[in-house]
Amino acid sequence: MKIDPWSSTTYQDYIRLRDEFGIEEFSEDCWIDLPNPHKLLRRGIVFGHRDFQVIHDFIINKKPWAILTGLMPSGKMHLGHKMVIDEVIYYQSIGADIFIAVADIEAFATRGHTLKETEELALNEYIPNYIALGLKPENCHIYFQSKNSDVKDMGYILGKKINWSQMVSTYGFNGAINMAHIFSPLLQTGDILHVQLEKYGGIRPTLVPVGVDQDPHIRLSRDVAQAYRIYNTTETKDKKIGVFVKTNKDIKKLLDNAEKIIRKLGFNQLKRINEYKAIYINDAKEKDILKIDNLLAKSEGKLGSFGFIQPSSTYHRFITGFTGEKMSSSKPESSIFLTESPETARKKIMNAKTGGAVTSKEQKISGGKPDECMIYELFLYHLIDDDRELKNIYTSCKKGEQMCGNCKKYSAELMSNLLIDLNKKRKMAFEKIKDYL
Ligand code: TRP
Ligand code: SF4
Repeated sequence: MKIDPWSSTTYQDYIRLRDEFGIEEFSEDCWIDLPNPHKLLRRGIVFGHRDFQVIHDFIINKKPWAILTGLMPSGKMHLGHKMVIDEVIYYQSIGADIFIAVADIEAFATRGHTLKETEELALNEYIPNYIALGLKPENCHIYFQSKNSDVKDMGYILGKKINWSQMVSTYGFNGAINMAHIFSPLLQTGDILHVQLEKYGGIRPTLVPVGVDQDPHIRLSRDVAQAYRIYNTTETKDKKIGVFVKTNKDIKKLLDNAEKIIRKLGFNQLKRINEYKAIYINDAKEKDILKIDNLLAKSEGKLGSFGFIQPSSTYHRFITGFTGEKMSSSKPESSIFLTESPETARKKIMNAKTGGAVTSKEQKISGGKPDECMIYELFLYHLIDDDRELKNIYTSCKKGEQMCGNCKKYSAELMSNLLIDLNKKRKMAFEKIKDYL
């Protein structure tokens, strides 16, 4: 199986994907001790991650870290798009530096939009909605790919460590693909890694919250970050912690530098073997790897390399559209747009297929199926913050106590409140846009 970031497929079978691609489960210990964990984290909607432990460690120890995510403006913003930004706003509230890429070059290269069209969509639709949803201007940078030459340069430079066979095996590219499309994943690795350049805050853990369709880009970014590293800190087969120099030049100087850093951290049972380009740290444990690696990474900047820390990622499920497929801007009947009138939203909700039985008599006997219900998903993802209230709906639906008609009405009412509130805030958002760019 391949994940294709540019197809409209929904990857429904999340558990299988997770196992097949070596994505880790986003289990309770990832979020339980975070400050006011967000509902998308608590409810398993964020279902997987790569290296989230690093982010977790930095949040708990109040050390600096960053979020980078991107948007491809291709039509109006709907509830599916809202999810990532809800996550971003939560992470901003607990101290992350925020970077948001407007993927105008990607939209041009892969969807055929002009740069002008995407700019207008970003300025009139996406960014005002982000602000209305609660994104704050402090420590927040929204930029256009086409206007950020550091990002474009990064894309080109990182390309040096990626070869064509890797692109073919990751994306299935064939001879008919155009060169701009080929370049767009490199540009995305540029987005993801540029935040660790000195000018953008320097080496630090970066979390990329995305849908699972973006995982190929994440893997590419992680590979390339690693490929540019000078040092590799790992546990060896015989359970020793070792620091290894990966390059072939200036080995003595590089080992001197590493040794100094390791000693500064308080380790002193070191065994240095120049021929192996290695320092074994006999008084270090597995849990020390992160700490050692972070400091070594930081020092690599001064040695003329990048020292990128591998970016972390989380993956969320997609909310089901009203047509049963993914919500999509090109299929208005599948989605609720953030600029929708409460009346139209109500109609879509009232017409939605639910997990209810064919007749209400039957539903009273056998109960409904909230797990297969779009209305329940609206509560779960967007409309109900209180876990207890959500649970009550779930159980009373299953017991056949809750009927779909009422349930829909309630959902329409909550949706209407949400849309009215957003509409009000969006009106005030336009004049604030400049504070974010
Ligand atoms: N490719 C993403 C999409 O299709 C958009 C994007 C561009 C992005 N750069 C990014 C996402 C960096 C995450 C990180 O939606
Ligand atoms: Fe869905 Fe509500 Fe009907 Fe249950 S009662 S199936 S949650 S609409």
